[in-house]
Amino acid sequence: MSKVTVWFLKCAMIYFVLAILMGLHLVVSGPQYPYMQIHVHFNLLGWMSMMIYGVGYHILPRFSGTPLWSERLSLWHLWLSNIGLVGMTIGWLVMARGGGHMVLLLFSVVEVVSIVFFVVNMFKTIRPAPAFR
Ligand code: HEM
Ligand code: HEM
Repeated sequence: MSKVTVWFLKCAMIYFVLAILMGLHLVVSGPQYPYMQIHVHFNLLGWMSMMIYGVGYHILPRFSGTPLWSERLSLWHLWLSNIGLVGMTIGWLVMARGGGHMVLLLFSVVEVVSIVFFVVNMFKTIRPAPAFR
């Protein structure tokens, strides 16, 4: 497995643990802001998306019978998706304390850029390959 795959899988599991701990907190406290949003995005952008990224980077080039289009772009994706998600969390905490939405907006853009990097890399990588008989 590549370094990027290994780190996406490890990050996914770390976010999963944090997300379900927050889920337990939500059970006892009710669906209160901002823990609800953080729980949701640790689960969906952290656990689920990063698990898909990790597995995707490993298997999709192999299914296509070609190397990944850009290792460097996948490394940028790894860093920016983590910076984006942690920053969004900070953004929600800032808003919960009465602050504005600029921090959330800034890191949401970082997260979006990271996703675009993944999509571009996969579009450039995925292609038909002869089926095994
Ligand atoms: C131990 C595991 C988990 C616990 C204890 C837990 C607990 C909770 C609780 C208490 C809420 C608030 C529900 C409400 O009162 O409206 C909630 C919301 C939510 N959880 Fe979890 N959760 C867990 C795992 C997950 C997982 C694995 C996912 C997704 C992969 C997930 C996705 C969501 C979503 C999307 C919402 C928001 C639903 C809405 O918008 O109304 N949760 N969770
Ligand atoms: C760049 C990526 C994303 C950004 C910037 C983003 C941002 C947001 C924001 C700002 C909210 C409103 C939170 C609030 O009420 O204050 C929200 C809600 C939500 N998002 Fe995302 N999101 C992203 C990706 C995703 C993905 C990939 C999923 C699902 C796979 C998802 C599922 C949800 C759900 C279920 C809610 C409702 C949560 C609730 O009930 O409070 N989001 N998102």
